[in-house]
Amino acid sequence: MNVIQAFDYEQMSRLAAAYIIKQVRLNPSIVLGLATGGTPEGTYRQLIRDHKEFGTSYQKVKSINLDEYVGLSPHHPNSFRQFMNEHLFNHLDIQKEQTQLPDGKASDFIQECKRYDILIERSGGIDLQLLGIGENGHIGFNEPGTSFQTKTHIVNLTESTRKANARFFENLSSVPEQALTMGIQSILQSKRILLLASGNHKAEAIMKLINGKVDEGFPASTLNLHNDVTLIADQAALSLVDRGKGAEHGR
Ligand code: F6R
Repeated sequence: MNVIQAFDYEQMSRLAAAYIIKQVRLNPSIVLGLATGGTPEGTYRQLIRDHKEFGTSYQKVKSINLDEYVGLSPHHPNSFRQFMNEHLFNHLDIQKEQTQLPDGKASDFIQECKRYDILIERSGGIDLQLLGIGENGHIGFNEPGTSFQTKTHIVNLTESTRKANARFFENLSSVPEQALTMGIQSILQSKRILLLASGNHKAEAIMKLINGKVDEGFPASTLNLHNDVTLIADQAALSLVDRGKGAEHGR
């Protein structure tokens, strides 16, 4: 794993955006795997800024998001679809019909998971997957204990994940209890992975990821099995990692 240390959230976001922009420019038809949440918001702001100032185009880009809450329609203000529209898609020249998220209101979730897997396959696979990490080590919404063999599936969100995401909702009880998520196997099949982490609350997870063993009890540890993972994390998120592990400093 290539580890790059950023000073703070802003620098992490700038470095992450630079990484993504480079890949989009190298391959204008790139398939991006995208994430929601607080971690990538700054990166998305930087992508938008770059698009407006320097014209990086997303006209041919396809995107496939990691997950969506069960029970929220794409129009629901707290759906991940709305998050992506507001924080990224509405501000780029990407074609909306080329942007995909699972349907949280599907009438048959088993079929919906199959549809999503086929969609990933037909896209030719994800070229670059952007990830955040949960405090409990989840990636996508693959909670601890999820088999590394999973494809898209429905999950029961843990109490800790619901609490962490309650800040986006009116209160804890409005946070959905289930989600549809891309599986760990699909994430691992991405050609490149860019993992971001910021803040002290992520330090323990990052320490476990870098120092720890590969274990289904800690989903992110599966990333140690992939040969092209870049972690960009700020000092706070790296604060528990041994200095000897040698993170490169971002510029
Ligand atoms: C979001 C996702 C989650 C988040 C994780 C961290 O699509 O799949 O795994 O990346 O919960 O969330 P934040 O960035 O809000 O700390």
